[in-house]
Amino acid sequence: MSEPLVIALSKGRILEDTLPLLAAAGIEPSEDISKSRKLIFDTNHDDVKFIVIRATDVPTYVERGVAHMGIAGKDVLMEHGAQDVYEVLDLNIATCRLMTAGIVGQKPPAGRMKVATKFVKTAKKYFAEQGRQVDIIKLYGGMELAPILGLADEIVDIVDTGGTLKANGLEERELIDHISSRLVVSRAAYKRFQNRIQPIVDQLAAAVK
Ligand code: ATP
Ligand code: PRP
Repeated sequence: MSEPLVIALSKGRILEDTLPLLAAAGIEPSEDISKSRKLIFDTNHDDVKFIVIRATDVPTYVERGVAHMGIAGKDVLMEHGAQDVYEVLDLNIATCRLMTAGIVGQKPPAGRMKVATKFVKTAKKYFAEQGRQVDIIKLYGGMELAPILGLADEIVDIVDTGGTLKANGLEERELIDHISSRLVVSRAAYKRFQNRIQPIVDQLAAAVK
């Protein structure tokens, strides 16, 4: 049998929207992923396997060619800055925005602004491009709490409906980027397995349409 193609899927929010797209492209897991503690899954193709991992780990597996393809949010891909990875398709799922936000009506501080985020590299780059010097405070979640308690003046976080900001008395400030989930392919894998990878990309593209 040929070496299996490994597709890295982000567990959590994206997975639910990813599986129907893969199914439309003719690839389905052999068992219910949501009911299993396994991390690697057979599919209806002998030569295709899924790994289901933290969204933030997907670029690492694909960059190192351990997974041949992967699906992750643009936010995660930007923050990771994966090298040797082709972003081949916008899957148009989990659409949202990466924004700066702060307390409603509160003016920016006179001095250096404090920004809390889990998107440290992306935030640094965004403010640096604007020539603004900020102190970045790394958090792992619940960023909206930081301005309320005075840990930070602003946050950089995902906004979708705006409900979380509103519930915490925050307002949208600047749009950093529009976000959706993307299909990425390892450059090395694409060279070796183009004849197996390209049909999957094409079928996924048709499924997205
Ligand atoms: P990890 O579990 O590795 O820390 P995560 O918490 O960012 O990652 P999820 O919450 O499952 O993972 O989100 C996955 C992706 O979904 C994000 O990378 C982003 O692209 C998108 N996303 C996050 N929040 C929303 C939202 N409120 N609405 C729509 N899409 C979102
Ligand atoms: C995400 C994001 C925001 C919220 C935005 O959080 O970090 O807090 O969704 O969505 P909204 O604009 O529709 O309210 P998530 O639910 O993934 O929780 P976490 O980031 O704290 O893990």
